[in-house]
Amino acid sequence: MSETDQLDAHLDTDGEPTRRDFIYIATAAVAATGAGALAWPLVAQMGAANDTLAAGSIEIDLSKVEEGQQLKVLYRGKPVFVRYRTAKEIMEADTVEMDDLPDPETDDARLVTNPQGALNKQYLVMVGVCTHFGCIPVGEAGDFDGWYCPCHGSHYDTSGRIRKGPAPTNMEIPKYKYLSDTIIKVG
Ligand code: FES
Repeated sequence: MSETDQLDAHLDTDGEPTRRDFIYIATAAVAATGAGALAWPLVAQMGAANDTLAAGSIEIDLSKVEEGQQLKVLYRGKPVFVRYRTAKEIMEADTVEMDDLPDPETDDARLVTNPQGALNKQYLVMVGVCTHFGCIPVGEAGDFDGWYCPCHGSHYDTSGRIRKGPAPTNMEIPKYKYLSDTIIKVG
């Protein structure tokens, strides 16, 4: 079995993910380029991500993620969320007043430009770890349509910015870059 075949991933969909979803994403959307990267079936939504892996990088084919879906990939021991945001989610992320943000940061500042120097506003890539005590937030939940951390009640918006609750800062944006319009390299 190849390294890629051993990868496993989970897509949030309206229904239950199928085994085919897992294999499809594992073989078509994510390619690991080092020992430190693997896609991860994010079955447990709670609990700290505390495993550690060696360095490496992953390439993710964004074209395999459909609007309104989220790919979750384990990278260097932490879940990385790749969300294809809807127009409503982008609008919500763009129209918030900076004064309303505990950790003020524009949505654009949380994105990376593509090879043409433009922002692919629909794709949000971030480390899916609550900045309070490290639990894994649940997507499409909370008071701001983004993510909700059930451990102690932190609400994040559609840009992954903390809006309410004990988390002190926005969810982290990992180091990544666009290799093409739809391929990103994390790490
Ligand atoms: S770990 Fe998320 S709110 Fe405490």
